[in-house]
Amino acid sequence: GAKKIIFSGIQPTGIPHLGNYLGALKQWKHLQDTSDKADSLIYCIVDLHAITIPRHCKLLAQSKREMLAALLAIGLDPQRSTIFHQSAVPAHSELQWILSCTASTGYLSRMTQWKSKLQSQSLSLSPSETTTSNPALRHGLFSYPILQAADILTYRATHVPVGEDQSQHLEFARECVTNFNHTFGSNIFYPPKTILSPAKRVMSLLDPTRKMSKSDPNPKSTILVTDDQQTIKKKIRGAVTDSGNFVTYDPERRKGVANLLEILSHLREDGATPAQIAEEMKGEGLVVLKKAVIEAVDAELAPIREKYAELLANESYLKQVQRLGKEKALKKAASTMRMVRTAVGL
Ligand code: ADP
Ligand code: NA
Repeated sequence: GAKKIIFSGIQPTGIPHLGNYLGALKQWKHLQDTSDKADSLIYCIVDLHAITIPRHCKLLAQSKREMLAALLAIGLDPQRSTIFHQSAVPAHSELQWILSCTASTGYLSRMTQWKSKLQSQSLSLSPSETTTSNPALRHGLFSYPILQAADILTYRATHVPVGEDQSQHLEFARECVTNFNHTFGSNIFYPPKTILSPAKRVMSLLDPTRKMSKSDPNPKSTILVTDDQQTIKKKIRGAVTDSGNFVTYDPERRKGVANLLEILSHLREDGATPAQIAEEMKGEGLVVLKKAVIEAVDAELAPIREKYAELLANESYLKQVQRLGKEKALKKAASTMRMVRTAVGL
C-alpha cells in the first residue's frame, strides 16, 4: 500500500499511566514493530499543550525528561521512530497560526472538552460573574485543538493512533484540512485517519465513570507505568467496585468490575474477552479477579520500570536522543512549511 506517516503525541504532565499505555503507547510500540520499513513513525512530547495549564518551569522540564525516558522504556526506538519535544520544532506554532486563520470558532466551542471546562467554571462563578469574563477560561484551552491539528499536519500524517477521548479533536483536524485546502486552493494536506487501540478508554480506579487521567489529583486513581509491585498491589486492591462479591462482565451496571476485566483482557496474550474471563472466574470472589489483574499488570510493567530507572539516570543518553529527534523532526517540518508558505503566499 501507500507509505504511511504515523504521528501521535502525549503531554509531559506526569509519568504515563495505564490508560496512556494501553490506549496509546502500547499501540505506538506495536506500530513501530509491525510497520513497513518505508513508513514513518513520529512520536511527539507535546510540551506546548502542557502549558495550557500553567506549572512551574522546573516541573515542566523534569516532566519532559521523564516522558522521554518513559517512551524509550516502553520500547520506542529513537533510530526507527522520530521522538522529540514539540517546542523544539517552531513549525508547529507557525502552522497553528495559519490554520487558525481558516478555523471556525463555532466548531471549537462545540468541543466536548471545552464545554465541560466551561460548565465546571460557570458552576464555580458567583451570579454577578459571567463565563466570558472568567480569567480561568484561557484562550489556549479553547484553541489547542488547532495546535493539535498543526502537530499532525506539520508531518502530513496519514494515521494518528490515540485513545477515544481524542476522536473529536481528530475530526476537527480533518476539518482544518478541508478549510485550508479550500481557502488556499491547495492539496498539500489530506485528512488523517484515526487509529483507535482496542483499549479505547481505561477508567479511574476510584471512579469508574471517569477516565484514568494524569490530571487526576488522587494518585490512587491511576497506575503509573513506573509503579513498583507493592504500589500496584495497593492500588488495585483499593479499586472501587460495588457491593457484589462475584465476577460478571456488565459494563453498564458494574463499571468498576468491568474496568478490571477490560484491563486484564488487554494484557492477556490469548486475546480472551472480558466476558470470557468473567466466565472463567464464575463462582469466584473479586479477590481472585484483583489478584489476576495485579499479576498481569506487574508482569507487563516490571521490565518497563527497570528500564525507566536506568534511562532516567543516563542524562547524556537522553540528551543525545533528544538532539537526534529534533534534527529529524526539523527536517520533515521544513519540507511541509515550504509548501504551506508558497500556498498561502508568505
Ligand atoms: P492525559 O489525559 O492522561 O493527560 P494525554 O492527554 O497526554 O493524557 O493523552 C495521551 C494519549 O493517551 C492520548 O492518545 C489519549 O487518547 C490517551 N489516553 C489518555 N487517557 C486515556 C485513558 N484513560 N484510556 C485510554 N487512552 C487514554
Ligand atoms: Na487528555
